[in-house]
Amino acid sequence: MKISSFFYFAKFGIRTILFKKKDPVLGTIIVTDKCNLKCKHCSVNNITAVIHPYEQIHDEMRQLYEMGIRILFFCGGETFLWKDGERTIRDLVVEAKKMGFLIVNVVTNGTYPLDLPEADLILLSLDGDKEHHNAVRGDTYDKIMENISNATSDNICFYMAINQINKTVIQDVCLAARDTKNVRAVSFNFHTPYPDTRELALSKEEKVQCCEVIKRMMREGMPVFNLKSAFPYLIHNNFPTPCHQCVVMENGKLSTCGRCIDVPGLCDECGYFFVAEYTLLFRGNPKIIFEMMRTYLRYV
Ligand SMILES: C[S@@+](CC[C@H](N)C(=O)[O-])C[C@H]1O[C@@H](n2cnc3c(N)ncnc32)[C@H](O)[C@@H]1O
Ligand code: SF4
Ligand code: SF4
Repeated sequence: MKISSFFYFAKFGIRTILFKKKDPVLGTIIVTDKCNLKCKHCSVNNITAVIHPYEQIHDEMRQLYEMGIRILFFCGGETFLWKDGERTIRDLVVEAKKMGFLIVNVVTNGTYPLDLPEADLILLSLDGDKEHHNAVRGDTYDKIMENISNATSDNICFYMAINQINKTVIQDVCLAARDTKNVRAVSFNFHTPYPDTRELALSKEEKVQCCEVIKRMMREGMPVFNLKSAFPYLIHNNFPTPCHQCVVMENGKLSTCGRCIDVPGLCDECGYFFVAEYTLLFRGNPKIIFEMMRTYLRYV
């Protein structure tokens, strides 16, 4: 991260904490919900299968920028399916940087060639060793590993959603993050139980065990891009929700925190680590502030 960006975020954080402000700083644009996969844990793919046009996404970017957002995520559906004429997801990242976003990240399933050096991070979903990943995501593991090996930049961070299928293979993903060329780190979430995937949710005891494994991995020097001070809150789901510093834009509709905000009762069972990390940070939790600075400066 550039030093100027660090100071921008530090100033935003101090203002938010001192004056209990609710201004957003992190925005996600859903470029399409179309996807080439149908993962077992996912409730958001191919609902409309519309690829939103460039002009619309450009307007959404401008709107988010004017709201003060400086960390932008592109998400889907599958982001690498996005195109408009000759334009691809790479053009969106370049445009976002030109517009002034300080951090621009893309979330992908990794099944398409990875040529995205302008992104700060490519969050690439890996849901276990080959057996467990493929059990969640279909037969994609080998293709993804090939794409990572041929990637044109080393800005990849694994993204694992821990659920009933893959809860035993956290260590495998940590080792892969440490040992795979072009991969910087791994970031975790717990399964968030949408009504159609409730059976994949983890119990409190299972979350405790998962957090113990992640903490051990951190102690052993694995590159984990999460904050361990947030784990107790994630286990007990007693972090504040929703996150007012995060917004999501899908087809012109702006929502606070996540597109899941409209699902009744879901926030009480939220498994997204970023929500716990950001809400605790902006409540001024000193351990989280310290860990966040250390972790972001290391991996972004
Ligand atoms: C919806 S996908 C979109 C981007 C891309 N298609 C991918 O798979 O990375 C974004 C991330 O959300 C995760 N995810 C999907 N459903 C989830 C759920 N119910 N709880 C937690 N994470 C979930 C996926 O595993 C993926 O890492
Ligand atoms: S690849 Fe991503 S969007 Fe597609 S089904 Fe899987 S989690 Fe959902
Ligand atoms: S707190 Fe609610 S809106 Fe935010 S990500 Fe979690 S479930 Fe979605």
